[in-house]
Amino acid sequence: MARDKVSVGIIGFGTVGTGTARIMLENSSLIKKRTGIDFVLKRIADLDIKRDRGINVPENVLTTDANALINDPDIDIVVELMGGIRPAKDFILQAIKNKKHVVTANKALLATEGNEIFAEAENNGVEVGFEASVAGGIPIIKVLREGLVANNIVAVYGIINGTSNYILTKMTDEKVEFSEALKEAQRLGYAEADPTFDIEGIDTAHKLTILSSLAYGIPLLYNEVYKEGITNITAQDIEFASELGYKIKLLAITKLSDGGVEMRVHPTMIPNEYLISKVDGVFNAVYVEGDAVGATMYYGRGAGDMPTGSAVVADIVDIGKKIIRSQKSEVRSQKESSDFKIRKMEDVESKYYFRFSAMDQPGVLSKISGILGNYNISIASVIQKGRRIGGSVPLVVLTHGAREKDVLNAIREIDNLPVVSDKTLFIRVEGKEE
Ligand code: NDP
Ligand code: HSE
Repeated sequence: MARDKVSVGIIGFGTVGTGTARIMLENSSLIKKRTGIDFVLKRIADLDIKRDRGINVPENVLTTDANALINDPDIDIVVELMGGIRPAKDFILQAIKNKKHVVTANKALLATEGNEIFAEAENNGVEVGFEASVAGGIPIIKVLREGLVANNIVAVYGIINGTSNYILTKMTDEKVEFSEALKEAQRLGYAEADPTFDIEGIDTAHKLTILSSLAYGIPLLYNEVYKEGITNITAQDIEFASELGYKIKLLAITKLSDGGVEMRVHPTMIPNEYLISKVDGVFNAVYVEGDAVGATMYYGRGAGDMPTGSAVVADIVDIGKKIIRSQKSEVRSQKESSDFKIRKMEDVESKYYFRFSAMDQPGVLSKISGILGNYNISIASVIQKGRRIGGSVPLVVLTHGAREKDVLNAIREIDNLPVVSDKTLFIRVEGKEE
């Protein structure tokens, strides 16, 4: 008789593990109707199997020992949802050696150790599904791999960290303090175990590493990603940005420029009229431009138990179909090109917002603009707010396109001027030249 059952084991019964289990249990008949396959949740491993997770699972499903499912010959797919590098990596590699397919949401692990994991999976003829590792419930991995397979990818711009977008939105719309907004994101289960990953751009860089690899067929090169988080953004910058017609978002950018792949994560000012600037709260969005399709955009919840569980279960189903029908699954690893160049951040060109802390006295603007001019940085507009004769005031300057290296050199010089009292803050600006 033909087989119609696929057994699944989950390691990690936390936020995403619970969402995944809930979807598998509650939507099992829907999935069966659509695929003809019974997906059986055979085991769930977690260190704490006493805590109430708000769903009922049969007692014999729970175990404290991840090896109980990694070494269970009946289990076809091991789902790693515990996070972190070790022992998650060891569990995954052991499962692969045991010829089990793997599904994971662990972008930190994939971005830093993924090349080894994918090679091992290939050697063992098993799949690694990672739809949930980028942009929560948005099926962006499938988009890049299947939907846009006919395109050379021109650029990818993403808001791909729900926690930092949630914080920036709360600070912008409700004037909530940074720390309060972060606490709320943690309470809602959006933040990483170490929330500095979210607010320092690390999580976004992990995800961008994965997107760049798919978009440009390059290895996973986390260490090449330039990253800056949102911790230096103040309520004042958000207000100035708003006055100038912009929103501040933590943007992940990968694109081809000058024959090299750019990979960068930093707060970015985006014009209010751009669709991506309207992506608020925990929502993520990824803009992908292909040479054939042109501009496309994908939007949805980027974190949380059920949205992420939706992506995890999609991978389970994809792999299950392969197991049952001996089809080639679409979640396999990417064949990487060895012929690529990574663009250095200092060569990147952008427009900039500068907030100088300048003494309120005659001649200061000309000193600052003189240095900017020496570095070929041309000013688009200037705002100075308030008066504090003898004290310092924020002086905001928007520039036309300039090279990062010139900007860093100019700021170094400006910050040494006696009329500048504090370090200059700068934010890169996207949008068309005025
Ligand atoms: P949680 O901390 O909520 O859940 C992880 C669970 O794994 C915890 O219950 C933890 O137990 C358990 N665990 C830790 N070590 C072991 C072990 N050795 N064996 C068995 N279980 C173990 O994390 P999340 O669900 O939020 O995240 C899981 C993964 O999904 C991470 O890689 C994360 O980056 C990723 N992710 C998370 C999203 C989200 O919205 N939260 C969205 C997309 C991806 P204990 O608490 O007792 O330590
Ligand atoms: N901490 C991550 C976020 C979870 O806030 O986006 C989803 O990957």
